[in-house]
Amino acid sequence: MEKLVILGGARLSGEVEISGAKNSAVAILAASIMVKGKCRIENVPHVSDIDVLLDIINGLGGSAAFVEKSTVEVDCTNLNKYEADYETVRRIRASSYLMGALLGRFHRARVGMPGGCDFGVRPIDQHIKGFKILGTEVEVDHGMVDLRADSLIGDNIYLDVVSVGATINIMLAATLAEGITVIESAAKEPHIVDVANFLNCMGANIKGAGTDVIKIKGVPELHGGEFSVIPDQIEAGTFMIAAAATHGDVTITNIIPTHMESLSAKLEEMGVGIEEYDEAIRVYTDGRRLKRTNIKTQPYPGFPTDLQPQMLTLLTIADGTSLVTENVWDNRFKYVDELNRMGAHISVDGRVAAVEGCDHLAGSPVHATDLRAGAALVIAGLMAHGVTEIYNLKYIDRGYEAFEAKLRSIGAQIARRNIEKELHTNAV
Ligand code: EPZ
Repeated sequence: MEKLVILGGARLSGEVEISGAKNSAVAILAASIMVKGKCRIENVPHVSDIDVLLDIINGLGGSAAFVEKSTVEVDCTNLNKYEADYETVRRIRASSYLMGALLGRFHRARVGMPGGCDFGVRPIDQHIKGFKILGTEVEVDHGMVDLRADSLIGDNIYLDVVSVGATINIMLAATLAEGITVIESAAKEPHIVDVANFLNCMGANIKGAGTDVIKIKGVPELHGGEFSVIPDQIEAGTFMIAAAATHGDVTITNIIPTHMESLSAKLEEMGVGIEEYDEAIRVYTDGRRLKRTNIKTQPYPGFPTDLQPQMLTLLTIADGTSLVTENVWDNRFKYVDELNRMGAHISVDGRVAAVEGCDHLAGSPVHATDLRAGAALVIAGLMAHGVTEIYNLKYIDRGYEAFEAKLRSIGAQIARRNIEKELHTNAV
């Protein structure tokens, strides 16, 4: 078992480079299942969710591996299975994309109900609604989703809930369907545009990604090619918040500043300095206490739910009381008990958290409850007085490449310790 140990109080400064977007890369790797030919995919972050997906693709009879630090080569020409291993699939949410990809490729898919972070009910009814409209019979038994279609025929699909996963999954299946599929009320997140761009590069015909109406004209097959994943909006946001939280001065590079607008606007409201460049953002403060603000999470271009825990953490030391409303997930405030343990004053009522700003947090042992909550606790540790120990690192490792090395490179005092090894050394 490992833990992160952080000595709080260091002011972050310097330059840090953002990796490729995890949530885009997982969808693109799943999409590559539909390609007959070799795909070379660059700017893929080396995180555990990606490793799980590479294992799944290899298990299905394809070949997928890192060939360079952040380049993956995938060849699914000879992929020959439509059933994904239940235990592996349960480890990541993105395994839901196997449904759309295998259905597109074989008109048949058998995939375990996807796992991933636990913040309330995570239904897939909109994915299933879309598959059914395209002509698929769907059965769910013993935790497995079984999909079969004689043929996939394009149609109009209106999503009742704006869902990233359902939008991508339907886009995947519709890419190799006959005729035209129109997804209305589609999600508009940057990684949806990225997945559409990837598929178009490989021969698909998708228009409108990034708006709420996506039109997909089915093609008979996809061919191999090269693609580079967009930078990770959420990793970039996490570093921007960490810079503000430590009253630092950090330039975050390899990012797309327009993806960061909702966060940049909120940070500026709090008194944080933001300077935008073509592919970088500088975040700095004048050292004065930050002002309170309110946050409401919304689908893109609204404030991202995946930055809610990090932003709430910053608000724990702002001047005054802030309200944070979580509009995307039912139960994404589990981590606040950990922040309260560090001296924060947060009370939660349903989907709203009231955060009463305090002078400072105090270091303490805490447990990550999911990926972004883990990142939030790291930020809390950086700004706290004293030493914070963070457990359950498997969550953080799912989505942040070289997190502590990147933080150390801009001045954080943070180290990873292997607990068994330490106990063994002490015993000897
Ligand atoms: C994606 O999850 C991301 N995961 C999540 O990021 C992110 O929090 C979420 O989008 C929202 O932005 C990946 O990209 C792998 P949704 P997804 O379908 O696709 C409801 C992270 O930290 N809904 O957009 O699973 C659902 O309950 C992860 O990186 C239905 O009701 O999210 C939720 O309230 C965590 N029926 C809302 O829609 C459905 O069929 C948004 O879910 C599907 C979703």
